Amino acid sequence: MDRILIRGGRPLSGEIAIGGAKNAALPLMAAGLLTPERLVLTNVPQLADIATMKALIAQHGVAVEQPTNDGRTLAIGGEIASTEAPYDIVRKMRASVLVLGPLVARVGEARVSLPGGCAIGTRPIDLHLKGLEQMGAVIRLDGGYVHASAPQGLRGAAIVLAMPSVGATENLLMAASLADGQTIIANAAREPEISDLADCLVAMGARIEGIGTDRLTIEGVRRLHGATHAIIPDRIETGTYACAAAITGGSLFLRHGRLDHLGAVARVLAEAGVEVSAEDDGLSVRRLNGLHGTDAMTEPYPGFPTDMQAQLMALMAVAEGAAMITETIFENRFMHVPELNRLGARVNVHGASAIVRGVPALSGAPVMATDLRASVSLVVAGLAARGETIVNRVYHLDRGYEAVEQKLAACGAEIERLAG
Ligand code: EPZ
Repeated sequence: MDRILIRGGRPLSGEIAIGGAKNAALPLMAAGLLTPERLVLTNVPQLADIATMKALIAQHGVAVEQPTNDGRTLAIGGEIASTEAPYDIVRKMRASVLVLGPLVARVGEARVSLPGGCAIGTRPIDLHLKGLEQMGAVIRLDGGYVHASAPQGLRGAAIVLAMPSVGATENLLMAASLADGQTIIANAAREPEISDLADCLVAMGARIEGIGTDRLTIEGVRRLHGATHAIIPDRIETGTYACAAAITGGSLFLRHGRLDHLGAVARVLAEAGVEVSAEDDGLSVRRLNGLHGTDAMTEPYPGFPTDMQAQLMALMAVAEGAAMITETIFENRFMHVPELNRLGARVNVHGASAIVRGVPALSGAPVMATDLRASVSLVVAGLAARGETIVNRVYHLDRGYEAVEQKLAACGAEIERLAG
């Protein structure tokens, strides 16, 4: 298994190009199942999770083509030959459940493996299922699979989500686009990736109001057509490299990064002593003087994202003073704490909160992590640690960060991938 070797202590400087958002691309690919016509997606990132979603779409019998040589454009479209999302694919990537809504809406049935547990929490899909039931689908659980059927098609419903789940909002939004009548999704999640999906659905002929708010109103249409859609830049990749610039005391230009998508991340970084400013087609990030311990609590957008919690903790590990970081979205998302502590951080966890007491310097060590953001937080920490850090289980990083070592090395980091 590949590892990443970092010799820390070099300030980053230069430019990093931010790719298309993984968590926008995955639901957008599932949206390709809503029409037999071609949905062309551009600015697609090259990531392991995207390859998994391509395999899933192909398993449904739908063609996924790459019309350009750079692999950043995908054309999805065709007739659905199979409505099954098998365990072997779903267990690799939970976002596979996003095919459920589109399949039931388009062909009246789907058989999707239940994803099971996950390193960061139990992550049930009850809200997805309850919403589909309200739209008239009959849901059966059998042999580890969810079987949803609506042979007469789905009908509009007034759905109030018990919590603003990103995935449930996306699944129900896609299903409602082809339902008979009006659907209201109240307490909807407002992440930029949901607005990106809604914008693409509108380009495909869907009728959606309230995009960007917590109340989406959808007038179902009989069919959707093809469209071309450019995926938004990845706000979590942007925030991650902002933390990397800050922890090394360097400065970076993050091309394509968008301040209006950063939500609370920009405010928390500013309080910590990191300047993030919008420029033409990107963001400039630099650390002003010292870093200050700053509290943060994860919340649905526009609050501080759970997907940035680990990276912020790495930054706070070397800040002056203490920071309290509270995780409210997932119940087990502190797996990076013992690994950061191996690098010399002083972090104590009590329940859903971690208290981080800043230390003057970290020191390199071999580390490993069990999920994507935890892994990248160790890379961020390693960039500032004295000596050598080796991050094991790089396949987690490859799920969500494209060419992480090349991007950082081009800005002066001493970082390389060790094969094997
Ligand atoms: C999305 O996951 C992201 N994944 C996650 O990104 C991200 O951490 C998460 O949203 C929160 O922002 C994709 O977009 C592909 P949720 P999702 O449904 O949709 C509970 C990354 O590192 N819940 O908003 O699965 C759930 O257990 C990842 O890129 C229910 O109880 O997140 C959690 O506590 C990991 N019942 C909370 O809601 C449900 O039916 C939020 O989950 C659904 C969710």
